[in-house]
Amino acid sequence: MRIAFAADHGGAELKDQLLERLRAESSPHELIDLGGDGSDPTDDYPDFAERLGLAIQRHEADRGVLVCGSGVGASVAACKMIGIRASVCHDTYSAHQGVEHDDMNVLCLGGRVVGIELALEIVRAYLGATFSNAPRHRRRVDKILAIEARESSGGQP
Ligand code: RB5
Repeated sequence: MRIAFAADHGGAELKDQLLERLRAESSPHELIDLGGDGSDPTDDYPDFAERLGLAIQRHEADRGVLVCGSGVGASVAACKMIGIRASVCHDTYSAHQGVEHDDMNVLCLGGRVVGIELALEIVRAYLGATFSNAPRHRRRVDKILAIEARESSGGQP
């Protein structure tokens, strides 16, 4: 898979550490660094969420890893984008179950919350998971997509 990584100033250090470690262990995935470099303490996480979301929408990436200070702002912003199903996961169970049941395509992490070793295990759990396509999971994701379609066409009357 092609995995895009992006981070604001609160997450850049963890994002860079993750890329370095995944490259060092010869991850089978194509790892795409969309920045930032953490040099601007006034940068804004929605800008990185949008950059990463666009990469997925344009089929330049299959999934994303988005890092901010807490992971919260990143996930709130990313979920505003059509086709993006993002969540903060600071445990390995949620990281794989979010993909298996909910077809999560953006994992959000808090660079001020988790250290590199736990973050790496979370990312490995996320990347190792696939959507189950079980009828009950498909039905629920389809309902999410239906909400998205209604919202993007002006919402409920
Ligand atoms: C930036 O200081 C911080 O607010 C941001 O990285 C993130 O934690 C927001 O949820």
